[in-house]
Amino acid sequence: MRLLHIIATPRTGHSNTLRVSEAFIDNLRAVRDDVTVDVVDLYHHGLPDIVGDNIDAKYELMFAQPIDKSHGESWRQIETLIADFLAVDAYLISAPMWNFSIPYALKYYIDCIVQPGYLFRYNEMGQVVPMVNGKKMVCATSYGGDYSPGSPMHAYNFHEPYLRSIFGFVGVIDVEFISAQPMDITPDLREAATTAAIARAAALARSPGWAVPSARPDASASAV
Ligand SMILES: Cc1cc2nc3c(=O)[nH]c(=O)nc-3n(C[C@H](O)[C@H](O)[C@H](O)COP(=O)(O)O)c2cc1C
Repeated sequence: MRLLHIIATPRTGHSNTLRVSEAFIDNLRAVRDDVTVDVVDLYHHGLPDIVGDNIDAKYELMFAQPIDKSHGESWRQIETLIADFLAVDAYLISAPMWNFSIPYALKYYIDCIVQPGYLFRYNEMGQVVPMVNGKKMVCATSYGGDYSPGSPMHAYNFHEPYLRSIFGFVGVIDVEFISAQPMDITPDLREAATTAAIARAAALARSPGWAVPSARPDASASAV
């Protein structure tokens, strides 16, 4: 299994979120020996600005026009990011909540890769057709407060709904969230929430959906 770990926290060794995602990776590696992990560390990745030539190229694609030659070089940076995104079987996103939503670096990455003709397209009826099929995703998250269902802050959580919406839009619908919360109220609450999230990460990595390689079509089977 080839996993893309998309890191959207700049806190490296101090990160609450990465403690959870590391537990997921460690447990996945413990139960299967075919795991490779590619990393996109968004605070050290040098994403291209979404301006000028690549904006023009995006609009050319949206209106089903060929990309103008003068926009090609800028567009190739976008294509490289998309190729790396599409090359894997599964995704692990490590993203804390920032101001009720996702950190800007993750939004920036999404703005780069979610492109017409690559991750989605419109059919002749003008309906959206997702183009990313059969991939799984885990979102490891941590929140300073408590946004669990039924809590007073639940309605302020735009983080999980946004990620489910945008990745669902392109076809990633097998998405699990592991949310460590609350992180920033007391140290005891942080430790308890982290321990619970790590246990959930371990259980998910060892569950059949992740631990068991998906069945491949049997090439020797004859069509009847
Ligand atoms: C810029 C910024 C904005 C934040 N906004 C929120 C927020 O809106 N709600 C919340 O509960 N916590 C917020 N936090 C706290 C983080 O979500 C929390 O500390 C999280 O565990 C940090 O994860 P990390 O250590 O992996 O970076 C914010 C933190 C930062 C740095």
